[in-house]
Amino acid sequence: MAAAQADPIVYHVAAAWRSGGTGAGPHRISSPLDEFSPMSALPLVQAFGIVRRDARTAETLLFSTDFALAAGERIAVTGPSGAGKSVLLRALALLDPLEAGRICWHGRDVDRQTIPRYRSSIAYVKQRPALVDGTVEDNLRYPYLLGVYRDRRFDRARAAYLAKRAGRTVGFLDKRASELSGGEAQLTALIRVLQLDPEVLLLDEPTASLDPQTTQAVEALVDDWFWAGEHARASMWVSHDPAQAGRVGTRRLTMHVGRLNACEEIHR
Ligand SMILES: Nc1ncnc2c1ncn2[C@@H]1O[C@H](COP(=O)(O)OP(=O)(O)OP(=O)(O)O)[C@@H](O)[C@H]1O
Ligand SMILES: [Mg+2]
Repeated sequence: MAAAQADPIVYHVAAAWRSGGTGAGPHRISSPLDEFSPMSALPLVQAFGIVRRDARTAETLLFSTDFALAAGERIAVTGPSGAGKSVLLRALALLDPLEAGRICWHGRDVDRQTIPRYRSSIAYVKQRPALVDGTVEDNLRYPYLLGVYRDRRFDRARAAYLAKRAGRTVGFLDKRASELSGGEAQLTALIRVLQLDPEVLLLDEPTASLDPQTTQAVEALVDDWFWAGEHARASMWVSHDPAQAGRVGTRRLTMHVGRLNACEEIHR
């Protein structure tokens, strides 16, 4: 599987487009189990012994990891810089080549045929977003140009609502992407993903550049997305802020030098 240096959402949809992936319906991407049941007891995403190494030095970045993310789960991941949190999220999103192990989606291996739909359903929101030239709206429209979303249309009113919910004013959609602050670029990347109603969100420090008020707004946006899925969605949120990890996660994991560990349960 080829590594992708591009912005993942761009890579997801571009890869899907190249492979002729299909979307299903206006608000939902179909899953491999659709023909059997609308809701499955199997984890949404399951990793078996996945390993990542630095291609140049062969250094192990992610030691053999088993992991399962069930529908209705909200995982918070903390750990020091360089521990491998982003490496893990990118591996789960199948954006980088695995040296070992496999990933299942609804209990089935993700193969060449299903990978475009997997990548559009299991959305990785990058720590440092890459935006295309043009306005914020151009960036939000971008995914709809591509095959996996060909049955769906950009909804400006919805995009404006999401921007407003994130504390932005009406003019936000018309702002030039090149003139956005780091935090505004992160918001744009998040809205671009949220409008596509993914099944799983892999959020890599999505509020790292945001003020406390906008951080709160982003947490509310992700909350909206989660509850709109009626317990069929799940998230994994990387944060350096223990208080935020407590707010956004019902299960907590930590990473230390390429190893994923359980942390204390968060009881609500
Ligand atoms: N594609 C890659 N090739 C080689 N090394 C990599 C690659 N991606 C990440 N690394 C290395 O893997 C280690 C873990 O990186 P990662 O970005 O996952 O850390 P992190 O836990 O997300 O840190 P932070 O909290 O600072 O974001 C780092 O030492 C990094 O340099
Ligand atoms: Mg990181």
